[in-house]
Amino acid sequence: MKIKNLIIFGTRPEAIKMAPLVKEFEKHSDKFTTKICITAQHREMLDQVLSFFEIIPDFDLDLMKPNQNLYSLTSDIITNLKPVLEKFQPDYVFVHGDTTTTMAASISAFYSGAKICHVEAGLRTFNMKSPYPEEMNRTVTGAIADIHFSPTPTSKQNLLDENKKQDCIFITGNTVIDALLFSVKKVNSNGFNDNEVQHLKTILNPNKKLILITGHRRENHGQGFINICEALKKIAREHPNTQIVYPVHLNPNVQKPVYELLNNISNIQLIKPLSYPAFVWLMEKAYLIITDSGGVQEEAPSLGKPVLVLRDTTERPEAVDVGTVLLVGTDQNKIVKETRKLLLDDSAYCNMSKLHNPYGDGTACEQIVNHIIMDSMKFISSN
Ligand code: UD1
Ligand code: UDP
Repeated sequence: MKIKNLIIFGTRPEAIKMAPLVKEFEKHSDKFTTKICITAQHREMLDQVLSFFEIIPDFDLDLMKPNQNLYSLTSDIITNLKPVLEKFQPDYVFVHGDTTTTMAASISAFYSGAKICHVEAGLRTFNMKSPYPEEMNRTVTGAIADIHFSPTPTSKQNLLDENKKQDCIFITGNTVIDALLFSVKKVNSNGFNDNEVQHLKTILNPNKKLILITGHRRENHGQGFINICEALKKIAREHPNTQIVYPVHLNPNVQKPVYELLNNISNIQLIKPLSYPAFVWLMEKAYLIITDSGGVQEEAPSLGKPVLVLRDTTERPEAVDVGTVLLVGTDQNKIVKETRKLLLDDSAYCNMSKLHNPYGDGTACEQIVNHIIMDSMKFISSN
């Protein structure tokens, strides 16, 4: 009897972090029937990742709507997963991280009776409003998951503090490092000839220091994004020897302020979201990164890039503790001041650009699959 797995995801970062797990389960098709269901909470940004990792979903709920809201997205995911779960009847459902897809898919999996496996489990800021609604999403998933795959000892401890049992929490590192190492290798291989990278080469000035920007957090929508854009304008004016490249997230609440406030500044390039390999290529070229992204905070330390985080809290304290990631929030003066320091003070830059791997060694997916093989043996013998 083969064990049935359903891997559910919906947004760009979940896809990047679940793709290596899909590949790892493919190696064990003698033991598992593994199917992929995408909610398509994101569309273009998700499809970019699927195409790079050559993943064809078995179920595509195609749910994204322009400027969607949390109420209808949540109910659409739960309602549309019902027939998928009833048809396939998985033994294990895998969800990732902290998006609306994660939370709604875990609730659906709970209703179906499948075992819920939470990948990237136990991250917490202990502030339900920041990040919003992600802290609630991962707390709800954590409350109902059967198996928790925590990236670090800190995230495991957070779950123990919530009275989860030791034997259902496994520290594996973060699967994002598996995806990153695979992509770095591919991007640096001889045959790699990506159109987006070719285009980036035409817009980058090798004589200027590259500052890479990303941002999308809901709690930064409105005044937060206005502050961020004003800070970037000041940085661009104050440091004409730098080049700011900003792949702008497709959320209209991000597109509008960014294109209105930052268009037509000669050393700021606003571009479309990049495919994962092109973004990895650009991170490697960056002098420093300014972002509110969760995933980028995990990738940058492995590439030795300093990160200024446009948030007041982080659920990823490990790199902050080592000093390669610094929280600057959305305070204009603080963003400008800390960027200036990194651009002008070599010793400050050196201290923040240490290469380290607090989030894993690239074997997270292999470890996750091994734990599931062990767990499914218990499962088979008890049935
Ligand atoms: C979502 C997640 C967030 C995650 C982020 C990663 C929730 C509530 N938010 O935020 O946790 O960090 O993704 O990027 O789960 N859009 C497109 N095309 C795309 C993607 C988005 O046009 O490929 C636009 C649509 O108008 C969509 C809007 O962006 O309605 C918002 O998408 P949504 O997934 O609700 O929020 P994100 O800000 O992307
Ligand atoms: N990323 C990408 N293209 C881009 C910007 C980011 O592929 O133009 C990748 C990045 O390397 C990271 C992930 O997307 O792995 C982060 O996604 P996002 O910031 O949207 O979400 P978060 O991690 O904050 O949930």
